[in-house]
Amino acid sequence: MTPTPWTLPHHFGVKLVTNRWAQPFGKLIDLSWPGWPRRSAGSLLLWRLGLGLLATCAPLLLSALSPASAYGAVVAVAPGSCTSLSEMASRRQWCWGTSFDVQAINDAETVQLAKTRATVLVPENALKWEVVNPSPGTYDLSDYAALESLFGQSAMRFRGHPLVWHDQLPAWLKSAPASSLPEFLRQHISWLVGIHRGRISSWDVVNEPLAHDGKGLRPTLWLNALGPGYVAQALRWARAADPDVQLVINDYGLEGDDPVSLLKRQSLLQLVRNLQREGAPLDAIGLQAHLRASRDGPSFKTLPGFLAELRQLGLRIVVTELDVNDHDLLDPPALRDRRVAEIYRDFLTALAAEPAVEGIVQWGLSDRYTWLNHFEPRVDQAPQQPLPFDQEHQPKAAFAAICSVLNGDLDAFDQK
Ligand code: XIL
Repeated sequence: MTPTPWTLPHHFGVKLVTNRWAQPFGKLIDLSWPGWPRRSAGSLLLWRLGLGLLATCAPLLLSALSPASAYGAVVAVAPGSCTSLSEMASRRQWCWGTSFDVQAINDAETVQLAKTRATVLVPENALKWEVVNPSPGTYDLSDYAALESLFGQSAMRFRGHPLVWHDQLPAWLKSAPASSLPEFLRQHISWLVGIHRGRISSWDVVNEPLAHDGKGLRPTLWLNALGPGYVAQALRWARAADPDVQLVINDYGLEGDDPVSLLKRQSLLQLVRNLQREGAPLDAIGLQAHLRASRDGPSFKTLPGFLAELRQLGLRIVVTELDVNDHDLLDPPALRDRRVAEIYRDFLTALAAEPAVEGIVQWGLSDRYTWLNHFEPRVDQAPQQPLPFDQEHQPKAAFAAICSVLNGDLDAFDQK
């Protein structure tokens, strides 16, 4: 299908022609940190010097680094406008987003952080099957409605997550006879996509379809009930419910150079080729990017080649759940912050030259509510530090790393 051209009359005068996450109006992204407060006067001075340097050099660097992409003009950058992540991300023609869970809905600081730093919002749990259809005949969109009313006025765009998944399913569905599942799935997709038509611009249609060990499709109730054609079927039902929405297959463990990731990529590419052969609609691949820090990994040397393969198959690429799990790092907090930041730097650097990448969504922006504290508590019981802002919403080393990649100036981070 032909993507809709969007002209963005914001202050850069950028024209994006296929990025369906982008804002139709207003600012693209604002992950900016207005006052750049740092923990000490010395580091504040270094930051200011660094920013001054960036302001001078970034436009030159940018023109050298930004390829004319298939989906938009290279952005003209006003000199001296280098202090905001929103500006930097928009130069890469990326949107920046965050997940948001209803548990934080009354936390004004967290709401403010999302409103001022992101322009794409993903409900972290509010659209999961167990939430929206907890018992047969009971439909509950109140969590999602609360998010829409909180963020709907702030020029935020919404991604839907997830339609088909093996997890967070209601008990009644898990015990339903396999023969009833195709019709339940059809109704679920048609309802959720249809009711949000025109309001959700991108959907994770099938979440985590690939096996954990990377070998083929994951054995799930959906595979069991509908066979391997369930992925194509789900995509077709979603397309029928909203002809314009971006349809995404989303999975984890595709980013690194380790053998399981390499195997999983092959399984994904095979799945995509099969879908395309059958004529199933698919617009983009979502890389969850739940990265896991170790002292010397992960590395992303093979990632650019994989992204290029996806582009050559006609697909867009979205990063959908970026965070860096520090469970295995035994160092004190400051060193953990640094290592996590290096992983942000390396990962985003591997993405930066790929024109098919549309945007980055993080699984939260600050460490305050990160899911990782429940999913994988650290053995020392210290809180995890996976995101660019700390529990007090102060920018961390990861934030500086993100800035340096978006600016095309890695020295700004490496020399700190
Ligand atoms: C997680 C949420 O963040 C948690 O609050 C919830 O308890 C479990 O699910 N991959 C996904 C997301 O696709 O839906 C998961 O979200 C994180 C892993």
